Amino acid sequence: MPGTTQPTTVHDNLVLEPRDVHFDWSRLPLHWIPDEPMATHTINVLHLLLPEGERWFVKVFKDALPLITDQQLREEVLGFIGQEAIHAEAHQEVLDHLLGQGLDPRPYVRQISWLFHRVLGDKPGLTPTQRRENIIERVAFVAAIEHFTAFLGNWALNSPGLDRAKADPTMLDLLRWHGAEEVEHRSVAFDLMVHLDPGYLRRVRGMAVSGPLLVHLWIRGTRFMLAADPTLNGSIRPSWREAQQVARRGLLPEPARMLRSALRYFRPGYHPTQEGSSSQALAYLATSPAAREGNH
Ligand SMILES: [Fe+2]
Ligand SMILES: [Fe+2]
Repeated sequence: MPGTTQPTTVHDNLVLEPRDVHFDWSRLPLHWIPDEPMATHTINVLHLLLPEGERWFVKVFKDALPLITDQQLREEVLGFIGQEAIHAEAHQEVLDHLLGQGLDPRPYVRQISWLFHRVLGDKPGLTPTQRRENIIERVAFVAAIEHFTAFLGNWALNSPGLDRAKADPTMLDLLRWHGAEEVEHRSVAFDLMVHLDPGYLRRVRGMAVSGPLLVHLWIRGTRFMLAADPTLNGSIRPSWREAQQVARRGLLPEPARMLRSALRYFRPGYHPTQEGSSSQALAYLATSPAAREGNH
């Protein structure tokens, strides 16, 4: 029903604490998965997209706060905002480090910034009804993207291939700390969307826009990183075949698994709690070196 909010079925009493973290990037090699530039740079796209993307999540959720009529959900949204703000800054530090190593990420980041500010940003001059609709539509985009961040987080927590390949331990901790918090808060955006509009069409539209956009940005981002890497001289051109081979070595999620996961989002009975494990995420967060360091 437009203009009203729905009672929320909150899955459990989530208390989301933003954890302070500390990472020391001074010893991070450019190819932090040794001899695997394709896998390194495909994962590096996270650092290109997330600072701008997560700052945008924070903005959208702050805009949505006045529309929330459920106290528990409101607390979860505040926790989500706190966690995403810290994620954005953690990935920003990696971008700064890449620049210091001679890989300039700024041309791509400028495009992402334009996308989030101009295309998906606040629209001036809307009536209150249009503004409400615009906020809910953006919440639905965030909910769909959060399906992917939870999928990737779950993958990061269960990726022994990265350990086998001797990936840099600080970067692994960043991926797993962030991934664990994505699994931990995977229901918040979805529950907020359903609270504001329980319609199936809203959910479908969120994924129909966000899914292909994310794939497009990822492919462009991987191409950009491989071209901008000063040690490669443009010698590696990414392909699906190559991505699949890298995934078979356990260094990237398998594209087919990711597609199947995206399709599950369309199931009428879908809820994010059906994917990933909260207890595994919390177990990692209890031992994450960066989160422990940040506590001191
Ligand atoms: Fe995040
Ligand atoms: Fe998230």
